[in-house]
Amino acid sequence: MPNEIIETIGLTKEYRLGQTLVHALRGVDMKVAKGSFMSMVGPSGSGKTTLLNIIGGLDKPTSGRMLLDGLDITTLPERKLHRIRRVKIGFIFQHFYLIPTLTALENVLVPTIPMKSSHFEDKAEKLLSFVGLTEREKHRPNQLSGGEQQRVAICRALINEPEVLLCDEITGELDTETGEQIVRLLKRINQERNLTILLITHDQRVASESDRIITLLDGRIVADKAR
Ligand SMILES: Nc1ncnc2c1ncn2[C@@H]1O[C@H](COP(=O)(O)OP(=O)(O)OP(=O)(O)O)[C@@H](O)[C@H]1O
Ligand SMILES: [Mg+2]
Repeated sequence: MPNEIIETIGLTKEYRLGQTLVHALRGVDMKVAKGSFMSMVGPSGSGKTTLLNIIGGLDKPTSGRMLLDGLDITTLPERKLHRIRRVKIGFIFQHFYLIPTLTALENVLVPTIPMKSSHFEDKAEKLLSFVGLTEREKHRPNQLSGGEQQRVAICRALINEPEVLLCDEITGELDTETGEQIVRLLKRINQERNLTILLITHDQRVASESDRIITLLDGRIVADKAR
């Protein structure tokens, strides 16, 4: 088993829009050690989301490889990729994408539906308690604050015990203090569960909580600082 949970080799991504070709990624080579807490920063349009989506198997590169725990996920058939995404990768987004008709507890359980097992309910309750939401289990998303909804989304991302947690601008819709609470919570999860976390942010304070900061510019890594 490699020490790197993530390795990208020469990743490029091009989008064709009519006559124009957009170069979203222009050759990204990067290794991420297991248990890292890494931030990705860079101006709007620099390729952060494109890179994160390829790392998480939500999107395919135009060329290059993405190795997850040594396995190239860019060439996997969709069914295998789907399974790997479900068990190894957790995603959290700026817009929480909770299902409005389900309670907090039910939302956390959504990724376990294909497993048809009842023991997850106990685990979901433990996760909600870990993020301080025991009293909100039966609330629906519109009965929760933004920070609470994001914490439900974090529990949903953790229910299958992924190896990597990918976060795209997750504090973007929260006030500063709530955003900081969420980042502190992620840091605790990183340290206590040795979970690898990659986080996209525009907020320097959020980035400064991580142990490595990668800067993207125009589809390339232009800085890579360990802290
Ligand atoms: N589906 C698409 N079709 C065409 N171009 C796209 C598509 N998705 C992204 N792009 C382009 O690729 C480039 C990188 O986009 P990306 O979303 O990765 O940037 P980003 O760094 O996440 O920006 P932001 O900080 O605004 O979220 C941009 O120039 C964008 O316009
Ligand atoms: Mg983005």
